Amino acid sequence: MENEFWHQRWREGRIGFHQPTPNAQLLTHWQSLGLARGSTIFVPLAGKSTDMTWLLAEGYKVLGIELSRVAVEAFFAENNLEAAEEHLPDFDVFRAQNIEFRCGDFFALTAEDLASVDAVYDRAALIALPPEMRAAYAAHMTRCLPPGAEMLLVTLEYPQAEMAGPPFSVSEEEVSELYGADFNIERVGSVSVGAEGRPPAGKDLSEMLEKTYHLTRKKAV
Ligand SMILES: C[S@@+](CC[C@H](N)C(=O)[O-])C[C@H]1O[C@@H](n2cnc3c(N)ncnc32)[C@H](O)[C@@H]1O
Repeated sequence: MENEFWHQRWREGRIGFHQPTPNAQLLTHWQSLGLARGSTIFVPLAGKSTDMTWLLAEGYKVLGIELSRVAVEAFFAENNLEAAEEHLPDFDVFRAQNIEFRCGDFFALTAEDLASVDAVYDRAALIALPPEMRAAYAAHMTRCLPPGAEMLLVTLEYPQAEMAGPPFSVSEEEVSELYGADFNIERVGSVSVGAEGRPPAGKDLSEMLEKTYHLTRKKAV
């Protein structure tokens, strides 16, 4: 999936993935991570997610990464935040209060960029990518995260033959293949996706589950 695909979606306003209110799984499961306020939460492939707004309101610092400048600018405008902008070779960095939002490619991030991260919140990031990119995404995430960082991961599962992604269906087995070598994985939630905006309009899927996982780093032996 080319970056241009996403730039075009944002230019044309085809952002059916955007939720006007924070994700229900985030609200249900976030506290179980037990993170102190002031912890830094990395939000990959962030869009203009209201989940970031919620995390900020809960007292966390947010580090977001998003390809589209349209999305980044919309996030600041819609949250009435004035951002200071800095241009780095790989990113335009927007900063305001407790958020640093990088406009650029997730795959250009380094371990240094993520050194302050305490936890990752992945909603509609892994599942936005086609199968061949998911392995590269998870490997890059694992490489760049500091040793103690944990993750709340929200996926969708549905019969892939019934719809072309994105969003793609990502099974529990695949989550385990992608992250199981480095993380302990606990599935903390599984809910059937009903009428609240998904499945995408006009799609008639026999089943769609939203699953939530808590990933914690395995201790080095
Ligand atoms: C399905 S959307 C989800 C956005 C957000 N997580 C949410 O829940 O609303 C995926 C987002 O990832 C962005 N994206 C795709 N590939 C990317 C990459 N390589 N680096 C940074 N952002 C990327 C797209 O522009 C898009 O906004």
